[in-house]
Amino acid sequence: MRRHLIVGNWKMNKTASEAVAFIRDVRERMPASPHADVVIAPPFTALESARNALGPSSWIGLGAQNIHWETHGAFTGEVSAPMLRELGCRYVIVGHSERRTLFGERDEAIQKKVQAALKHGLSPILCVGESLTDREAGRTESVVTAQISNSLTGLTRGDLANVTIAYEPVWAIGTGRAATTEQAVTVHRLIRLFVEAGWNRETASAIRILYGGSVTPQNVESLLASDAIDGALVGGACLNPDSFATILRLAQIPRA
Ligand code: 13P
Repeated sequence: MRRHLIVGNWKMNKTASEAVAFIRDVRERMPASPHADVVIAPPFTALESARNALGPSSWIGLGAQNIHWETHGAFTGEVSAPMLRELGCRYVIVGHSERRTLFGERDEAIQKKVQAALKHGLSPILCVGESLTDREAGRTESVVTAQISNSLTGLTRGDLANVTIAYEPVWAIGTGRAATTEQAVTVHRLIRLFVEAGWNRETASAIRILYGGSVTPQNVESLLASDAIDGALVGGACLNPDSFATILRLAQIPRA
């Protein structure tokens, strides 16, 4: 069975020293490894300090929030996959809706980022999700499947083994209005069917599909109680050590 994965997306929050203090605090609250995979994604500037604070064999993995698809060159302001690997990152969030809407990222660029991540040994966490307008117009399925298809096209089954999909409805991000478990489960199921149709059943049953959008200590248990939801991509509630540790504790639901 797929292990739960909880990813804390810090977005543009915490300096390097704040990152170190946060890690110490979470560790004091959670001395032992939870029965779930855990990743934090601090800003680029805090990655090295976070890696040093975590140490070599921490149960908390490190991820980045974005990458450029080239390895190096004249791309002012960008950071490449090999740079992140050397800093100890194992995951990278790709195609977050804030990147899509605020920075104009399109599926074509996201596809290149997914491929670059895989090529350099980073596991991409591909974010997909519909806007409120899309949902109200009945376009949730077509929007989400198009995002997946455009971003993952050309990948092999072996590649998919290293990909995580995060369903983050845009209307639920930072709004305090999370999708209901039922709404999330419906979309997670259609994503899994879409992966099955595009690759095969084994790939579909192995891939982790996370939910993101106003996840809190109050709603995480209900979301994770469903077999269709393999974890959470947490924004606001991952910034506070107490609420993040509570989410980790609640994520330890044994899976059949
Ligand atoms: P919030 O949990 O703050 O809604 O953010 C979700 C998110 O965008 C995680 O990537």
